[in-house]
This record gives sequence, C-alpha cells and structure tokens, in this order.
Amino acid sequence: MVDVAALSAELSGAGPGAVVKRALLEHGTGAAISFSGAEDVLLIELAKQAELPFRVFSLDTGRLHPETYRFFAVVEQHYGIRIEYCLPDGPAVQALVRQKGLFSFFEDGHGECCNLRKVEPLRRQLSTLTAWITGQRRDQSPTRADVPVVQVDPAFTGQGGAPLIKYNPLADVTLDYVWASLQGFDVPTNALHARGMISIGCEPCTRAILPGQHEREGRWWWERPSDKECGLHKR
Ligand code: ADX
Ligand code: SF4
Repeated sequence: MVDVAALSAELSGAGPGAVVKRALLEHGTGAAISFSGAEDVLLIELAKQAELPFRVFSLDTGRLHPETYRFFAVVEQHYGIRIEYCLPDGPAVQALVRQKGLFSFFEDGHGECCNLRKVEPLRRQLSTLTAWITGQRRDQSPTRADVPVVQVDPAFTGQGGAPLIKYNPLADVTLDYVWASLQGFDVPTNALHARGMISIGCEPCTRAILPGQHEREGRWWWERPSDKECGLHKR
C-alpha cells in the first residue's frame, strides 16, 4: 500500500510532470489518466514526456459535443494511443429518458443523469485500477479549493475493493499555467475553447462564458456554485 503521507511530502513543490511520472513509476498500468477532452490533455502530454507506458480513459456520457468526440480522435492519433471509453449502462439510461425525457436535468438537477452517465461508469473503471490521475485544480471551483496533489480517494475504491490512490498533478497550478504549457509543448486542443468554453463537460450542460466570468459559470449554470459537482470528485 502506498504511503500517501510520505508521497505527499516527497511531491511537495514538484511540478505536474514530476507528479505524473511518479504516479506512473509507482503504479505502472494500474494507474490511468482520467481525460475529459478539455485542457486536461496536458496530463497526456506529460505522460508521453515521462517515456513510460500509460493508460487513458474517458467517460463517454453519450451527450458530449461533436467537437469533443473529434478531439478524442485527434488525441489518439497525435499520441499513438487508444482511449478506453467508458459507457453508461444502456437499460438504465433508456429507463431514465423514457420516463423523464432527454433534458430532465434542467427540471430536477443534474444528479440523476450524472450518476448514470458518469459516476457509475467511473466506479466500474476505477474498480480495475490502483490509482487514477485527474486534471482537477484548486482554482477551478470553490468546491476544489483544498484539492491535494495526492490522496486516498475518499469516494471510490480500486481493484479488489482496495483503497484507490488519486493523483491531481495540476492541483496547485493555474489555468494560465496549463494554457502556457499546452502552447509551449504544441499540444492539440479542443476546438470548443476557441468558442469561449473553458471548462467543458456534456453539451447540454456546458456553455461559453463572457470575459471576466469564472470558468465554472459555464457549467450547470442553472444551479448554485456549491452544487456544481457531478460526483466524480467527492471530498
Ligand atoms: S466535472 O466533475 O466537473 O465534470 P471537470 O470537467 O472539472 O469535472 O474535470 C476535472 C477532471 O475530472 C478532469 O480533468 C478529468 O480528470 C475528470 N473528468 C471530468 N469529466 C471526465 C470525463 N468525461 N471522462 C474522464 N474524466 C473526466
Ligand atoms: Fe447528464 Fe448533464 Fe451530467 Fe452530462 S453533465 S451526465 S448531460 S446532467
């Protein structure tokens, strides 16, 4: 079992690239990058630079933008990888949309739909891993102000029900840092960013923001800031 306190001390002040490399050295292909199809593509670039084998998975909710699906294909081509797509349970989604229609989240909140389309598939994927690597940052949201660089996942378990290690290599860098890195390393990016979207999720629940607005204001904008988590990142 990884000694998270020792690892946190070791990684204190380490840059994102060093954290990604350490995670891959520690877990090998028991770890996987959780890639949303947005600026977290930096994690994939850093894994490539580490020159170690790595895995990437994406939660294909069925409701992502066409641009995001195209971007997944560009990323696969650019890095010579195949993303592990995680799909929701068909009968469960079918039951929801037959009962409540395609946009029930605008009426009664995003919890039910996110649970079926994101959280359950994530739980299934994580149960095959010893660690996951996410693109969470503290500057993304008030709900993420305390995100550590490495932690025992407080919400999910890994392979065989064992504790799961969660690495957040971008926790203490800023959005500007991420974009400077993407440009510096000439990384391909999602076409939606050029249309004013910073934080990108599912198409019905993401919109462009205005200058000066916080990136999170483009997600689930009909809900309160404190409700803007979909269950992937519980504290
Ligand atoms: S969310 O919980 O609000 O949707 P956000 O879009 O900020 O999350 O992304 C934070 C991190 O969560 C991403 O960098 C990624 O690691 C993970 N994540 C979010 N959405 C997905 C997805 N569809 N597939 C895989 N990972 C995801
Ligand atoms: Fe459903 Fe919206 Fe959540 Fe996507 S973000 S799973 S469409 S509620």
